[in-house]
Amino acid sequence: MTEHAPTAHPSTDAHGSTGGDTATGAVPTTGAVTSAAAGTSAAPRPNASVSLPSGLTADQLPRHVAMIMDGNGRWARSRGLTRSDGHRAGAKAVRRVVVRCRELEIPYLTLYAFSAQNWKRPANEVSQLMALLVEFCEGERSLLTDKEIRFRVIGDKARLPEEARQAVSFLEEYTADHARMQLVLALSYGGREELVHAARRIADEVASGALRPEDITEDVVAARLWTADIPDPDVVVRSSGELRVSNFLLWQIAYAELISDRRGWPEFDAAAFDDAVTEFARRNRRFGGV
Ligand code: FPP
Repeated sequence: MTEHAPTAHPSTDAHGSTGGDTATGAVPTTGAVTSAAAGTSAAPRPNASVSLPSGLTADQLPRHVAMIMDGNGRWARSRGLTRSDGHRAGAKAVRRVVVRCRELEIPYLTLYAFSAQNWKRPANEVSQLMALLVEFCEGERSLLTDKEIRFRVIGDKARLPEEARQAVSFLEEYTADHARMQLVLALSYGGREELVHAARRIADEVASGALRPEDITEDVVAARLWTADIPDPDVVVRSSGELRVSNFLLWQIAYAELISDRRGWPEFDAAAFDDAVTEFARRNRRFGGV
């Protein structure tokens, strides 16, 4: 996973995408869900004691929520705080969202914590984010244990500094048997980078004679992504009002519902998560049909 260098973009947003769209609001999409590589059982559903978002039934909940955590810097600036303060507040929001997701018994939560393009940020900001990551891995181990949450990382883990790499690897191993929910952190992650990586794997297999070109299907590609055994997200939620996907799970979100929330990531809490889930439940997913 170390073969690529991050693509340079002239003007980048929080997770490295180009573009200047600032419109807000939900973006309806339709289409078919392909969970070629899911390999997991049906979503467990909340028991009677769980308080669901108002008006929703358990079967309306998504099975996999993916979130682009944006707006730490703006949130901090608007309060006269430093970007570092914003990221620290963002880490607290991560905890609140994980707890709510688990309460609702949504089995997969993927958070875009650091893109392949974020390495271009000033060195001190990158260091602060890596330090926060280590703090999170150490500080939230008991939460993940209590709640039986498995922790996983997708992305180019080899690029992480040694301490961060060790912290995430330790937590991955420590929580490997937890089965109530999966918290997937996208770190040094890029959707294009992931596809290049998969393409190289497939090319190697074809070159060695293990795979014939005519046998390359969607399932074959999906099985060579970093998300190979994770079902596709049903919904992508982006904080801070932007309307772009910023190189996040490009293959996997082909049929995901897109939701943009005006709140900055540090403001995200159970109520904001519930709002997103409620908006998802309102959508009419047709999966390419009528
Ligand atoms: C984007 O907002 C946010 C990031 C690139 C980092 C996300 C990090 C966290 C939420 C905190 C740490 C997370 C963990 C899991 C420990 P931005 O800060 O670029 O916002 P801006 O666009 O307003 O400047």
